Amino acid sequence: MQNIPFDRALVDEIIAKNKIKSVGAASIREVKKIIDDVESATGEKFVRMEMGIPGIPAVQLGVDAEIEALKNGCAAIYPDIYGTKELKHETARFVKNFLDVEVEDDACVPTVGSMQGSFAAFMTIARLDEKKNKILFIDPGFPVQKQQWNILGIETLHFDVYDYRGEKLEAKLEEYLATGEVAAMIYSSPNNPAWFSFNEMELEIIAKVANKYDVIVLEDLAYFGMDFRQDYSKPGVAPYQPTVAKWAKKFVLMISGSKIFSYAGQRIAVMVISKDLFDMKTEHMKKYFTQDCFGRAIIFGSLYALTSGTAFSPQYALTAIFKACNDGSYNFAEPLKEYGIKAEQMKKALVENGFKIVYDKDLDVDVADGFYFTFSYPGLTGEELLSELAYYGISAISLGVCRSTRTEGARACVSLVPNEMIPVFAERVKKFHEDHPIK
Ligand SMILES: Cc1ncc(COP(=O)(O)O)c(C=O)c1O
Repeated sequence: MQNIPFDRALVDEIIAKNKIKSVGAASIREVKKIIDDVESATGEKFVRMEMGIPGIPAVQLGVDAEIEALKNGCAAIYPDIYGTKELKHETARFVKNFLDVEVEDDACVPTVGSMQGSFAAFMTIARLDEKKNKILFIDPGFPVQKQQWNILGIETLHFDVYDYRGEKLEAKLEEYLATGEVAAMIYSSPNNPAWFSFNEMELEIIAKVANKYDVIVLEDLAYFGMDFRQDYSKPGVAPYQPTVAKWAKKFVLMISGSKIFSYAGQRIAVMVISKDLFDMKTEHMKKYFTQDCFGRAIIFGSLYALTSGTAFSPQYALTAIFKACNDGSYNFAEPLKEYGIKAEQMKKALVENGFKIVYDKDLDVDVADGFYFTFSYPGLTGEELLSELAYYGISAISLGVCRSTRTEGARACVSLVPNEMIPVFAERVKKFHEDHPIK
């Protein structure tokens, strides 16, 4: 039997030493430090669900291509900020094969992770029009993007979309976009943290309202193809990953290598910009950029100022992986299905022990099992739940940091939980339930 819960006095002493109020109120990095300290003091391993790090090795094809590129001397040369010809071409093929959308090679641009893609997009978009410069976040969302707009001093608007799914989305978007102040809106689908996915009807609504008010859509596809209820992994064969690009005039798609190819460490992603947006010109942007259209301003203005492009070797890695996916010689979804299996087992253990799944539905069907899920426990706020779970060797993050209105909840990431820890997790959850009878 494990020594769970841990000695409360010992954990409290570690929390006090780390100078934080409670585990539930701490940042992800602070949580990490406390867990490290508790693990070394107790000799027990935590079930760590706080960080969204891939739990499987990087796609070998990419590693090989990078090594080859480095051996061939690419490290000595400044990378092409526009992206290599091959990467641009394989990206456009990938978009056609897996999204069923035609884009020009020119519109596909590498970034240092999607993190840089969204930063550059926010920076550029906020400088297009003095009066129309707010960004609407279709929340809940990825916490670091909120840090980005905060640093950039951009005004943002937010709403939790869970109560406005389906047809209700149109009126909600109208409410914000009709003000004429919104330059762009952003969401992720599958969603971090809630793991719901917008369906085609909802994406068409987003595009329709965006087109009506000439608003840019930033579609964050960090979890491309990872809604495993459908098989989106066959090139040129339906079903395709649903995307707003089918209907929207002005969009940026952000496709990251971090999760779908487990390539987080090499910081590689692509931005795919629609033709209407690439060619967009405004008077106001001339104040900030020497180039007078959006596509060139974001590349030669924002990306140049940020990092002068994306390192060559990860560009080669992504080219090789995209090419293999396009040619059908590599199936990107296969190794990722493990996340779905783990999520199903862990959610089952929670639900059997009184916990609730917070974002549980995709309209009328159950939300998919994948990289993240959200959970709560009756009678506890998200903060109280996380603080209490720390005594049981379980860590996650609060939904509050994702700007969710569901403050009773927490986000769990399954990727770093080894298969052998799942029975341990189930046992700890059971003990938690026994110790916290639901009133
Ligand atoms: C929704 C979302 N967007 C973007 C990112 C970051 O992607 P990248 O590693 O390519 O910067 C993440 C990573 O967790 C994410 O969840």
